[in-house]
Amino acid sequence: MKILGTGCASPSLAVTNKMLEEFLDTSDEWITERTGIKERRLMTSEHLLDLAVEAARKAIDDAGMTAADLDYIICSNVVNEYSTPALSCLIQGAIGATCPCLDINAACAGFIFALDMAEDKLRAGKAENILIVCAEEPTRMVDWNDRNTCVLFGDGAGAAVVGRGDAMKTVRLTTSSRKEVLYQVRRLEPTPYLDGEREFAPLVMKGRDVFKTAVSSSTADIKAMLAETGIDPSQVKYYVLHQANERIIDSIRGLLGEQPEKFPHNVERYGNTSSASVPILLDEMSRAGKLSKGDILVMSAFGAGFTTAGCILEWTK
Ligand code: ACO
Repeated sequence: MKILGTGCASPSLAVTNKMLEEFLDTSDEWITERTGIKERRLMTSEHLLDLAVEAARKAIDDAGMTAADLDYIICSNVVNEYSTPALSCLIQGAIGATCPCLDINAACAGFIFALDMAEDKLRAGKAENILIVCAEEPTRMVDWNDRNTCVLFGDGAGAAVVGRGDAMKTVRLTTSSRKEVLYQVRRLEPTPYLDGEREFAPLVMKGRDVFKTAVSSSTADIKAMLAETGIDPSQVKYYVLHQANERIIDSIRGLLGEQPEKFPHNVERYGNTSSASVPILLDEMSRAGKLSKGDILVMSAFGAGFTTAGCILEWTK
């Protein structure tokens, strides 16, 4: 596969750390020092579908296509207003596509899981052009009285259109079932037959555990992918990592012994947008003219599950 076009969209409201100080026992200093985050975008009048559709349209346009050229849509999403139909179905209708589509949930690692699925479909000759949309509103999963979690997240959507090519050098996916470090239990409708009360809870996160697991797993994935492909670190133009926390990115960089310039970031402006973070960053880099044909990009992400995903991709646009 290769990437043919990218797009992204964010809610219009930027919520700064100072604005959080107005109702939370927190400070700009604490959030900046521990996470690097200065502001995040939050939904007001928008709905997640609006962002998903905007990002999708931009990616299709960037690829020089129309919705009629798509023959599959994969949407990576953890939560949105609709349990059913899938967000991908709503996107399909809104952009005027007619192809099959489905949603996946690999949490923050969803973009790379989707790239891997797309690669399989393209290889099998079952599709020519696939739209991937990562649309997330993690700010609707957290308790806004819980300073441990709510300061970390932001809403957004990132998209890519992929087609046949040999840009994908390797993909590495892992899943290890560890609910206790990061989960949310949503409220479902009651029935007359349920035995006992069912609990629901906003996002629960063991921050330090997630931090350590993220750093060690991403570093191991990146080293394994470089070794497998024989790509020397000096050939890597950028490490495009999941934007959860600047300290996580910096720790991975330190363990790889790499230069800061190779680690682009926008977590300071968006917070953690879950699976949307990698395609949003990629789109911003592409539109800012930072990517050239032939650049080797190493991507890596981690999320609830626990999931990790990495890939090495040549930029071919
Ligand atoms: N403002 C002020 N103080 C705070 C805040 C806040 N927003 N949040 C926590 N604190 C306090 C804690 O209560 C604690 O106080 P105490 O010592 O009196 O008990 C103190 O700060 C230290 O808390 P720690 O949790 O130990 O702080 P740490 O340095 O580990 O930083 C953080 C916390 C930022 C959450 C860090 O652990 C982290 O980034 N973890 C990874 C989070 C992550 O990436 N999550 C998502 C990954 S998966 C996905 O993307 C969905």
